[in-house]
Amino acid sequence: MIKAFVIGFPINHSRSPLIHGTWLERHAIDGRYEAIAVEPGALGAFVARLREGEFAGGNVTIPHKEEMFALCDSRDPLAETIGAVNTLVLRDGRIHGFNTDYLGFLGNLDQSAPGWDDARGEAIVLGAGGAARAILVALAERGFSRIHILNRTRDKAEALARSLPGPFLARGLDAYPGLAGSADLLVNTTAIGMHASRFEGLDLGLLPKDAVVTDIVYTPLETPLLADARAIGLRTVDGLGMLLHQAVPGFEAWFGVRPEVTEDLRQTVIATL
Ligand code: ATR
Repeated sequence: MIKAFVIGFPINHSRSPLIHGTWLERHAIDGRYEAIAVEPGALGAFVARLREGEFAGGNVTIPHKEEMFALCDSRDPLAETIGAVNTLVLRDGRIHGFNTDYLGFLGNLDQSAPGWDDARGEAIVLGAGGAARAILVALAERGFSRIHILNRTRDKAEALARSLPGPFLARGLDAYPGLAGSADLLVNTTAIGMHASRFEGLDLGLLPKDAVVTDIVYTPLETPLLADARAIGLRTVDGLGMLLHQAVPGFEAWFGVRPEVTEDLRQTVIATL
């Protein structure tokens, strides 16, 4: 039996076992995907266990993505750029690290808002925390010509822009009104939508009518930002698709079958939110 895992702390809330379990069943694979709570500070011991060969690989979530990056034997170039890994593949006792969050972000938009990147023009990214990094790298890879990082603390946006290769411009949130009119995409990478909260004073009506608005939060599925955008007729993409799509490359690497992100799977996960 092929085994894979997700480690994090806490880990009970993770939907990854449900996603991978659904795919294992669908493809009748003799495999198992389990959630393992690994406390902060216990990652080294888990890595030693990994090298013994019990697992084909697994996922890494909060708070271990950056520390695990340092413990990998080798890393995918995109994971190197992002500075974090969320997917591990074991071969001959060696640990290879990948970051599939950027693929998850792109896969979600490609599937949910076809044509979203036709112009490869300007994007506005809200927030400058760890979650922003994979998204910024993804937008740069897709060829967006200008990517504005807007953050409450402008210094953090500037440090982030300097740390990544791409056409990034760091701003404070007050720059939004001057930028919105030429943005093809607005991405919220902060968690404020989880707290039924929104960016005050962010007038979505200033965006072009065909702009796409997306949020990485999926609890709730429709964040206040997405609700506001939908109410004025903008295209919206929720964050659940990013979670589903980031799981695809890992499943394929461990179990040998490329799974699909179907509406069925989406509804299965939504039923647990
Ligand atoms: P993560 O690594 O998960 O992205 P983080 O590093 O704590 O989390 O980043 C959170 C982001 O959300 C930051 O960009 C933060 O802005 P600051 O850099 O100014 O702290 C942003 N953020 C959090 N709460 C916010 C709020 N109420 N209003 C505006 N921005 C907020």
